[in-house]
Amino acid sequence: MVGYALDIGYRHIDTAQEYRNETEIGDAISASSVPREDIWLTTKVWVDRFRDGDLQRSVEESVHRLRTEPDLVLLHWPNASVPLRATIGALNDAKRRGLTKHIGVSNFTVALMRKALALSREPLLVNQVEYHPYLSQRAVLEWLRAQGMALIAYSPLALGRVFRDETLQQIGERHGKNAGQVALRWLVQQDGVIAIPRSSRDANVKANLDVFDFQLTASDMAKISALASPQGRLVDPVGLAPAWDDLSATERARRNARRVAQAVRARVGRVLRVPLRS
Ligand SMILES: NC(=O)c1ccc[n+]([C@@H]2O[C@H](COP(=O)([O-])OP(=O)(O)OC[C@H]3O[C@@H](n4cnc5c(N)ncnc54)[C@H](OP(=O)(O)O)[C@@H]3O)[C@@H](O)[C@H]2O)c1
Repeated sequence: MVGYALDIGYRHIDTAQEYRNETEIGDAISASSVPREDIWLTTKVWVDRFRDGDLQRSVEESVHRLRTEPDLVLLHWPNASVPLRATIGALNDAKRRGLTKHIGVSNFTVALMRKALALSREPLLVNQVEYHPYLSQRAVLEWLRAQGMALIAYSPLALGRVFRDETLQQIGERHGKNAGQVALRWLVQQDGVIAIPRSSRDANVKANLDVFDFQLTASDMAKISALASPQGRLVDPVGLAPAWDDLSATERARRNARRVAQAVRARVGRVLRVPLRS
């Protein structure tokens, strides 16, 4: 599928160590007639490799599997159990050592991005977050724009839900497009937003790229933005997800307390292991 996508014009490939497909993606890039420098390749480091030394080794392993240095390496999710200073320092080191051209984060809130940016000597390029018509990312997007950073929208088709949406279908009819193409167009028509749809079918992969020959009106854009709701988030894994910017104050406080407890447990665990090992 990656080979086919490159053939028909895709130039942005998004992977992660956790997806366990870096080797196949490396094979597809090597076999493609598309020059490597025309491809944007992103991978991500999983949260259990965030310590200094471990993170750099983990990126080296990605480079080995991909058979090329990625353009962008992201921290896949925040991890309160490892001090952010150490993780950002290691990520900076990976970049300085030429293991990746750029670095960034994924699933970070504004508060976490602020901390990360303050700790990073190298520029952080993007934050990759869930973004589609049912989830507002206004706070994150405004903050990113103010920093000159970009937002990569994952699950841009809301895992396929947009195809059943009447508002998107109606807007699509006027433009001769399907509901998914309307959702993707809504994303890429926003300043500083990049979309990474996924599909396992040739016809869908082709259709998802066909979004650069029409323009949504301001009224279309507003109608689609109005579909967002507090229940719109689809990817919210317990134990990984931070206190998202769009949560109520109570829920944010509860999640922050849970993250602090996690970090304390991890620290106590490390301290207790020291005498056992020595
Ligand atoms: N950073 C993170 O934590 C994170 C989390 C989640 C995802 N991501 C990234 O974002 C990418 C996309 O997100 P996602 O996979 O969660 O969701 P998505 O792209 O919103 O949705 C994928 C689903 O939509 C269906 N679909 C795609 N095109 C279609 C079409 N034209 N017509 C009908 N159905 C269509 C696919 O089915 P078919 O295969 O049948 O077409 C698939 O079930 C992932 O591949 C990954 O790279 C990152």
